[in-house]
Amino acid sequence: MKATSLLWLSATALAVCAQAQSPSSAPAAQVQYPLYNEPYRPQYHFSPPTHFMNDPNGLVYFNGWQLYYQYNPIELVAGHQAWGHAVSTDLLHWTNLPIAIPEKPTGQIFTGSAVVDSENTSGFFDGIPGGGLVAVYTLNEPTNEVQNVAYSLNGGITYTDYAGNPVLDRHDPNFRDPKVFWHAPTHRWIMTVALPNAHQVLFYASSDLKNWRGLSRFGPAGIEGLQWECPNLLQVPIEGTNQKKWVLVVGINPGAPQGGSMDEYFVGEFDGTTFRAGDTVGRLMDFGKDFYAAQTYNNTPTGEAVVVGWVGNWQYAQVVPTSPWRSVFSIPRVLSLRQKETQTGALLIQTPVSLEGLHDQTLYDGSTQISTSPLSIPLQGNASFEFETTVASTSIPHQQQQRLNIDILNGAGEKVTVGYDWSRSQVFVDRGQTYGFSNPFFTSDFSTWADNTDPKTKVNAIRLHVLVDRSMLEVFVDNGIQVCTSVFYMQHGPPTEMSWHAENGNVTVQDLRAYSLKSVWR
Ligand code: FRU
Repeated sequence: MKATSLLWLSATALAVCAQAQSPSSAPAAQVQYPLYNEPYRPQYHFSPPTHFMNDPNGLVYFNGWQLYYQYNPIELVAGHQAWGHAVSTDLLHWTNLPIAIPEKPTGQIFTGSAVVDSENTSGFFDGIPGGGLVAVYTLNEPTNEVQNVAYSLNGGITYTDYAGNPVLDRHDPNFRDPKVFWHAPTHRWIMTVALPNAHQVLFYASSDLKNWRGLSRFGPAGIEGLQWECPNLLQVPIEGTNQKKWVLVVGINPGAPQGGSMDEYFVGEFDGTTFRAGDTVGRLMDFGKDFYAAQTYNNTPTGEAVVVGWVGNWQYAQVVPTSPWRSVFSIPRVLSLRQKETQTGALLIQTPVSLEGLHDQTLYDGSTQISTSPLSIPLQGNASFEFETTVASTSIPHQQQQRLNIDILNGAGEKVTVGYDWSRSQVFVDRGQTYGFSNPFFTSDFSTWADNTDPKTKVNAIRLHVLVDRSMLEVFVDNGIQVCTSVFYMQHGPPTEMSWHAENGNVTVQDLRAYSLKSVWR
């Protein structure tokens, strides 16, 4: 971490302490925790130093991985939205930077994107070799939402508004979340932007980022929910080929099948003007409840598709029991597509960036068989860890509940369970036995199907990669073809142990590798 950001962080920490010590605002006995080491604070995921965060914004590679985010710098709930800012060289260690685009007297700065205008198509970067960053964001005015453009002459630290703003105004209070990218075949910028109540994505083109022409629209399709938000259109490689397809990601809020907010995606073709989905099925990006408003990086070094999602759900994200910050981002994930025989269309694969550089202690390395007695793996005092394995068994006819339960538990018996059921060919996650937070919308059980039964041997082997970080987990099933992202809040302290136990059958645990992970914040 750079010295400047350390200074800034300690200033923020002091401000937080000062607030907490004032007799009117805090009980005398309130415990002070070091910043980034408070209860529940994830240790290898990005979260803001203090206050409320929601969507990732302006994700672009330009002198590092730039990360902007929807940020309320003065409260622990949404409001006064501005663009917070951090940067990383490896997508894991982040340097916090000052607010890049502050709220305006005329409105809040809602979600948007950033591009590198290397050819100076905008004219904002005359005489500057390599051009610079241009942000396109929604200005949320009391009765209208418009799209604005701003440019940065200092590498993305601060932005200056284009004098001709807004660049798009439909006189519509619901018209937001512009995602802009460079479309090389037609040599122009393309913008996707949501028309939330119509369940549509509008497509625009521009040669200079200032003048935008309407091209086409997509939707309604898939799951509509109440509103559509945060569209992203990008090319994603198909595994094992040198082909790519276009993927359109859309946020539904509220009205997702699991409840509240969730991202769905459509796979298809984009000819520079129109997106045509292969079918109108909206496939979910996650089978949990805490992955929303995902945004993909522009200008990645090798053209890889990298996505970051907000680990939250509008149903309860503003009341979860964390302080002095609220919300965290998913681990950045590389996207690809896989065609499965059992599916009509290609499915999105999400592969987390490698955490190898953060490995601390080896918690387990080997293969084993679990039958009657459980396998216990102490976490060595660190509730930030990952494990990867293949779990295999043969389904027993008429057996109703043939399962592996991986309990991630603390000393008081609170637990989150990740498991697989061979009788039903389903992966499940259960956060119901954690008692730090309760809310009618904070539902506890999530599941999806997965079945790789070998027709000859009848062995059904499931690959699991699980990331746990104090108060959140990400489960990648079969190398990321299904993902569950979930927060959980244990009242009596973070998990201290994993207990793997089999119900009604034996389970082979192949090549289980579990590692505790170093904090990226110290
Ligand atoms: C999605 C969203 C966006 C909006 C932003 C406001 O979570 O509602 O549509 O731009 O959050 O913070």
